[in-house]
Amino acid sequence: MEQNIKILGFAGSLRAQSFNRGILNAAAQLLPEHVALEIYELNDIPVFNQDQENNIPPAVTEFKNKIKSADAILIATPEYNYSVPGVLKNAIDWASRPYGDNSFEGKPVAIMSASTGMLGGARAQYHLRQSFVFLNVQTVNRPEVMVPFARDKFQDGVLTDETSRKKIAELVAALVNLARILKK
Ligand code: FNR
Repeated sequence: MEQNIKILGFAGSLRAQSFNRGILNAAAQLLPEHVALEIYELNDIPVFNQDQENNIPPAVTEFKNKIKSADAILIATPEYNYSVPGVLKNAIDWASRPYGDNSFEGKPVAIMSASTGMLGGARAQYHLRQSFVFLNVQTVNRPEVMVPFARDKFQDGVLTDETSRKKIAELVAALVNLARILKK
């Protein structure tokens, strides 16, 4: 009997029609058996202020608890100005604090990105992977999932590009595999 795996997913975009939330929604349709994906919205996470890190706002406590209780994390991020969007970096900064209470410690994490540009968010992914070295995250290396020219790959908000859907399914399978190994 396979172990049940709980994945927490979040997108680094608050945009209502976000392509990155779109690829998370695609992942939700492509889950292996015994796997659940909860998609969490970052809208309520306030701007980080280190003065508050020992008296954390309730939205941040909720976010941190969701990360800690998940077996694995799936992040879909846009690339903003060749890097990680502030919304996502801000949420990760909160979840990593206070020192000694890093919610991401040892977690298996998979990253994917969608962009309207030709590199599909690759540069943002590598910046994010760099932060996750410091946070001691077990980042899935392969497959790399970048969805370039995202406007052409969706119809009515649904990811229809078969190559992208196949890669997302492979990434989720790799994440689940790693989560099962780490859970043993
Ligand atoms: C962008 N975009 C963008 N795209 C890219 O491939 N590389 C980049 O450096 C940037 N920079 C950038 C900065 C800012 C502030 C914005 C708002 C946008 C375009 C980006 O790929 C596009 O807006 C996506 O649609 C954003 O992702 P969501 O919101 O659809 O998930």
